[in-house]
Amino acid sequence: MSVGRSSYPGDGSSTEQARADEFLAMECSRDQLREWDRRHYWHAFTQMAEYDPLIIERADGVWLTDIDGRRILDGVSSMWCNVLGHRHPAIDDAIRRQLQQVAHVTSLGMGHPAPIRLARRLAELAPGDLEKVFYASDGACAMEAALKMAFQYWRQCEVPEPGRDLFLALGHAYHGDTLGSVSVGGVARFHAMFDPLLFDVVRGPCPDSYRLPAATATVEEAGQYYLGRYERLFEQYGDRLAAVVVEPLVQGAAGMVMHPPGFLAGMRELATRFGTLLIADEIAVGMGRTGRLWACQWEDVVPDFLVVGKGISGGYLPLSAVVTSPRIWDAFLGDYADSKSFFHGHTYGGNPLACAAALATLAELERTRLVEHVAEAERTLRQALESLYQLPQVGDVRCRGMIAAVELVADRATRQPFPWEEARGHQVCRAALAQGVWLRPLGNVIVVVPPLVATEEHLHRIADAIRVGILSTDWE
Ligand SMILES: Cc1ncc(COP(=O)(O)O)c(C=O)c1O
Repeated sequence: MSVGRSSYPGDGSSTEQARADEFLAMECSRDQLREWDRRHYWHAFTQMAEYDPLIIERADGVWLTDIDGRRILDGVSSMWCNVLGHRHPAIDDAIRRQLQQVAHVTSLGMGHPAPIRLARRLAELAPGDLEKVFYASDGACAMEAALKMAFQYWRQCEVPEPGRDLFLALGHAYHGDTLGSVSVGGVARFHAMFDPLLFDVVRGPCPDSYRLPAATATVEEAGQYYLGRYERLFEQYGDRLAAVVVEPLVQGAAGMVMHPPGFLAGMRELATRFGTLLIADEIAVGMGRTGRLWACQWEDVVPDFLVVGKGISGGYLPLSAVVTSPRIWDAFLGDYADSKSFFHGHTYGGNPLACAAALATLAELERTRLVEHVAEAERTLRQALESLYQLPQVGDVRCRGMIAAVELVADRATRQPFPWEEARGHQVCRAALAQGVWLRPLGNVIVVVPPLVATEEHLHRIADAIRVGILSTDWE
């Protein structure tokens, strides 16, 4: 049998080959791109019936440039993942250098220097004894891995507790869009539809610092109240819990809900007291966003699983990881025939290009001491956004590092939200885009998550665009 090159289908002069070459070389007009975008590209979390193409051609620092040459300030770090700005020379260079070696090496039974070195660096930087790194690609995949690791741990640890088959999750939690991460998630608008497909979880209240529980008057009291509610859940379900899952300090997709101080440390204490594991989902809040490399560090918390994603690669390439302890790792060791391996993996987990970007990002954070600068940037951002309280529609301005939210309300005194169908946040963001600032709302919440390198001028520009956005929106 001939296996020569000419026997490959589509080779040489075939019409398929000609079409492929023609397509690759084709210059697309802007109208053509817009038409294909509407027709073929199913965008995430987007109502395609209403989609108005916004096509970014290139980017530099905090600026995006669309195909019409319009420069737009990236006010949400390309969905909270860009840390050092776009086209950062050190990250670009690291990826180029990596490309000269190899683009991809699987993590299934083999390694490569880039993911090995990144694992070592994460072990150095992670809190406590966390030093075992399991790679995935997107955040949700890493959350799936952490949930399954916790579940499997109890079945093969030294004194197995197979009765631990439940997870405790927070109200309005968000951990991604795969079915496991949706199960522990609790944003009804995104998740309710899939209820019949999800596993049961124990759900506690959302530890909100803006809408306090009826019985409390201060954020501190609310913190105690929430921990009390969780303590009761631990008492009720403690010996059935495989793990408790927390977004430390800020619940992103819930609408940048800020937790009362001490809540995270309180949850760690409860998890330890009731002998269960703590999964800290730092996918949104990690990588310096809150002014420490990891949000857990604010309350001296060492989780059992630190889950990182988004900004880990500087916002360049899909990369996420679960960082865990020798205690967990050891439970997965054994003879081949014991079948104790973690039977879970993602094709591109630990991709070398992404790991090279991550190593460069971590080195750059260190070199520039950018995370220390976040406290000052937070003050600027807070001040700029708090000036929006002059507008009656602004109910709350909240800020934690380079994570901020401006919540629009129908009534500031009662904190009454606008009905979500009115899409007020979308209207304001659309108007802000006309001012050259890209923001993406969560319901009534205007989310501001700029790259950590955003300057004072950029932060004021974002606040100004929100102001104009609110002023130019029809509130009737
Ligand atoms: C806290 C948190 N966990 C998990 C995820 C899911 O990450 P990914 O979109 O990369 O799957 C997100 C995404 O926004 C998030 O904010």
